[in-house]
Amino acid sequence: MKVGIDRIGFYTSKWYVDMAKLAKARNEEPGKYLIGIGQSKQSVIPNSQDAVTMAANAADQIIDDRNRDQIDLVLFGTESGVDNSKSAAIYLQHLLQLRSNIQSVELKQACYAMTAGIQLAKDHVLAHPESKVLVIGSDIARYGLHSAGEPTQGGGAMAMIISANPKILTIEEPSAHYTADIMDFWRPLYATQAVVDGKYSSQEYIDFFDRTLTEYQAKTQTKLSDLQAIVFHLPYTKMGLKALKSVLSKTDDRHATQLLREFEYSRIFSREVGNLYTGSLYLSLLSLLVNSENLKSGQKIGLFSYGSGAEGEFYVTTLQPGFETAIGGDKVKHLLEDREELSITEYEAMFNSQMPLSADDFTTHTQIDSAKFYLAGQKDQQRQYQRRKV
Ligand code: COA
Repeated sequence: MKVGIDRIGFYTSKWYVDMAKLAKARNEEPGKYLIGIGQSKQSVIPNSQDAVTMAANAADQIIDDRNRDQIDLVLFGTESGVDNSKSAAIYLQHLLQLRSNIQSVELKQACYAMTAGIQLAKDHVLAHPESKVLVIGSDIARYGLHSAGEPTQGGGAMAMIISANPKILTIEEPSAHYTADIMDFWRPLYATQAVVDGKYSSQEYIDFFDRTLTEYQAKTQTKLSDLQAIVFHLPYTKMGLKALKSVLSKTDDRHATQLLREFEYSRIFSREVGNLYTGSLYLSLLSLLVNSENLKSGQKIGLFSYGSGAEGEFYVTTLQPGFETAIGGDKVKHLLEDREELSITEYEAMFNSQMPLSADDFTTHTQIDSAKFYLAGQKDQQRQYQRRKV
């Protein structure tokens, strides 16, 4: 039985900051952010959006009356959890009006958790062929104003339906994994912003890519030239380019040029949004599917997932007939084109306006946010999620 990605949804905030202007404000050369880091714009997330509402806004695009009641499992990958105990998946299940006789859980392993969700969903569908699984990756990447990581912030959510006979991509067996206990990026319980050793994490990322790709090739006898494209987790788009370049000597010049060309398509959206953490790899995949003019059904796409701390996985998917009509590319392009630019002062104010970690009641700036699902604030220590009537 073929199992894989049947539908893909994406959401990010309607506000962004221009990276050339941010560079100037931080006394850096614009070329450092635009080329050296590879980012043009960065999504700025208002206090009326969090991991739950962004997930709901992404999932709402791929759930309708035909598939709603077939969803029997929700797997919510995030490292921006809103509660130390209650799962973000429960809030989501309620907001999306999914059935009550289903399973809903949150998964955590830094930026790797959505991949874990996809692979668990695949196994669930293999055991229950009628099932459809909703898998989420939703995060806000925050390193802090004036920090080295500031140009690699961003935020947003990816949502997928994993099912039998998928319309977009099948997920092939096996995968290759590598896991090691390292301290390259983490967020202690007291902190709202990540602690990162950026240079070390970049080295480890490439090492994990090399290890998982090598193991994948040994397990499957796959040659690099069997892959039409490789898409990467993109904490910043230059990271993926560095990893890709590290393996190009293993293929011929024509194929190396092809992989570089496809990589450029795969980084268009991340360049405009920034880091999504769990969803980042899948925004690259969506960007490739929407923007590349070279894709055909039957072609294979390699995916490299990396979550600091750290866990890596390399796996392969196969494009399905008619995938072009199933991806809804125009919606994504409109979402990105219709955003509003913030000045640096406005960006800093929005960044600093996040709901505080306290027991106090709080009201968010819902009047400026037109998204269908939003966080109205906190009352009696309970998050107040709302669905706008549209
Ligand atoms: N024009 C073009 N490129 C320029 C430039 C200019 N004017 N000025 C600098 N650069 C290049 C540098 O050569 C460097 O390229 P390289 O990485 O290929 O060597 C790049 O811009 C970044 O410069 P650097 O001095 O290394 O930046 P930094 O010390 O401020 O740190 C990060 C950059 C990415 C390490 C930092 O933003 C970070 O830690 N981000 C978070 C990392 C992360 O997300 N880790 C998780 C991985 S999963």
